[in-house]
Amino acid sequence: MTEQKATNVHWHDGEISREDRGRLLHQQGATLWFTGLSGSGKSTVAVALEEALYERGHLSYRLDGDNIRLGINKNLGFSAEDRTENIRRIGEIAKLFADASTIALTSFISPYRADRDQVRALHADANMPFIEVFVDCSLEEAEKRDPKGLYKKARAGEIKNFTGIDDPYEAPTAPEIHLHTDMMTLAEEVESVINYLEAQGFLAPAIAGA
Ligand code: ADX
Repeated sequence: MTEQKATNVHWHDGEISREDRGRLLHQQGATLWFTGLSGSGKSTVAVALEEALYERGHLSYRLDGDNIRLGINKNLGFSAEDRTENIRRIGEIAKLFADASTIALTSFISPYRADRDQVRALHADANMPFIEVFVDCSLEEAEKRDPKGLYKKARAGEIKNFTGIDDPYEAPTAPEIHLHTDMMTLAEEVESVINYLEAQGFLAPAIAGA
């Protein structure tokens, strides 16, 4: 747990609530947390889902590992400590997007279970939906895809601490959604996430007093 450094700081609520924002956008904010090996398809599913939601009139916003590491997290590498801080910051950012009633789509390997559970707890404290999506793909298949040629480099010892090679990936034990990207089509994956969001009522505003 990261220490609170600043003292005498307090949360300040505004006049417009999360529910008000949800009514404006005809949806409820939530974080969809995609986790899986590099090359498992996290970003691909998030991109396709963003488009499918847009076509249905829903606003989502993608937070993607590589993009975020080029910006707000440019000072972080791939040590266990840096990965934990990477995930902590993304968890906080996703929470802000969800509070804005957007559907936050985060695509990070997020290999450590404790880090993901920390983000889950952060959302629970704020009464915010956290949906863990396990983008499940065998290492063999991810390595075969190797879209960025990174597994090849890791095998050759040119990249250290590469997830799945010489750094662990701790699979979720109870994800809300489990996608087998080495067995499902992209369209099936998107459909299964949309079905979940619909079934849970996220694609409609919250009912007042419910
Ligand atoms: S995480 O472990 O901290 O969640 P994140 O998803 O942000 O990782 O970044 C992973 C991306 O960084 C990979 O898709 C890959 O393109 C790149 N990368 C570079 N070095 C590594 C490494 N050692 N381990 C994993 N991914 C790496």
